[in-house]
Amino acid sequence: MSNLTIVGTQWGDEGKGKIVDLLASSADAVVRFQGGHNAGHTLVIDSKTFKLSLLPSGIVRQKLSIIGNGVVVDPIHLENEIREITNQGIDVNSSNFVISSDCFLILPIHKYIDSLRENQKKGSKKIGTTGRGIGPAYEDKVSRRGLRFCDFKNPKELEEKFISIYNHHNVWIEKFEGKKISYHNDLKSISKCYQNLSRYIDNTWLLLKKLNDNKRKILFEGAQGFYLDLDHGTYPYVTSSNTVAANASIGSGANPKYLKKILGITKAYTTRVGNGPFPTEENNDVGEKLGKIGKEFGTVTGRKRRCGWLDILMLKKAITVSGINGLVLTKLDVLDTFKDIKICTSYNINNQIVEDFPNDMSNLKNITPIYETLSGWEETTKGVTKFVDLPLNAQNFIRKIEILVECKVDIISTGPERDECIIINGMFN
Ligand code: GDP
Ligand code: IMO
Ligand code: MG
Repeated sequence: MSNLTIVGTQWGDEGKGKIVDLLASSADAVVRFQGGHNAGHTLVIDSKTFKLSLLPSGIVRQKLSIIGNGVVVDPIHLENEIREITNQGIDVNSSNFVISSDCFLILPIHKYIDSLRENQKKGSKKIGTTGRGIGPAYEDKVSRRGLRFCDFKNPKELEEKFISIYNHHNVWIEKFEGKKISYHNDLKSISKCYQNLSRYIDNTWLLLKKLNDNKRKILFEGAQGFYLDLDHGTYPYVTSSNTVAANASIGSGANPKYLKKILGITKAYTTRVGNGPFPTEENNDVGEKLGKIGKEFGTVTGRKRRCGWLDILMLKKAITVSGINGLVLTKLDVLDTFKDIKICTSYNINNQIVEDFPNDMSNLKNITPIYETLSGWEETTKGVTKFVDLPLNAQNFIRKIEILVECKVDIISTGPERDECIIINGMFN
């Protein structure tokens, strides 16, 4: 198995960072291919916590870490993140970190618009974005006025591009705010960032080709989760990129034939941060308990995550559409004290039994999840490293999921620390 793609199967925060860090030990390169610093990936190594948003999680092991063309980069944030991780003793240099010159930039005006728009929406109309300018930056990319790192090579055209972006958004900003945003200071500060970051900027599709030709092992690191995907998620309560595994190719320039093993990361329950449908949400004591034990607070915004039971319909669609051929079940230990554990196997929608995740989820009312209830194990699984050492009911829970979704569980995570996991299939090994 030469290459590996890791994607979330729910609404993000499944524990992708921990698993990428774990498997990066056997990889030669780790590649981010979509999203931006809306991601928050937490790694815990010997009680030391690393929080990454934009840097690939492989950087902590000093592996070649690549930001592919599909990522939107806030250069101010990137500089800060490099500084912070360097202060934690991780060396980031031009030999272990490369950014695609084709990456689109998140400018200060994008962040401004993101917050402005959210503030104007009322109640459940709010998406609950991370406020980091992700959506507006991708919009500029799609409408072909976006700014890329390669544009800094031509200062005259660069200024024209800034003017075009700021003029476009100022029509709307002036209407709602009665003022315009000037591009001058932002052009100066972003150009300074570019100077500092230029040593990392290169042609990454070619780098990936060379790595692949030399039989190097590449790990593609997805951000967010399947149901935040722009096309396949719970639109409009989604992010502005494609989070499905196929985007690992588009967002990095890696030939689709490079993508062989695709691992779907799944929490043993479900969480969501921000607004939008969540059929198995437990807006009660059960949800509170899951959130408390699982420490379910967003890495990026600190918001409390909504919590509920595992949803098999969600997993089945994510496995099918992303081409997932192995699962990683994380946070099993969070369920240790539950007497009963529920798994949603179908929905009742207006008295119809539905077994496949519906398309128009955000417009559907009256969804009642139908559960299978399993007996809990009521003993600790924290730090268990062998499947046979798991309580029998925990083994039954995992086997049940495998049968329901028709996909094998390759890794089980039993705690936040790097080595708190059960590796059933060693992937790269
Ligand atoms: P990501 O965005 O998918 O990388 O996930 P986050 O890092 O945002 O959220 C996952 C959280 O769960 C982090 O705080 C991890 O340290 C923690 N975590 C990961 N795996 C486990 C596990 O198996 N058990 C427990 N208790 N915590 C875990
Ligand atoms: P990781 O990689 C969880 C959510 C936001 C919001 C929606 C749109 O840590 O799993 P955006 O700022 O992207 O326009 O917000 O997407 N969201 C995430 N939720 N984990 C993430 O990333 C997320 N990235 C974005 O909360 O609901
Ligand atoms: Mg996260």
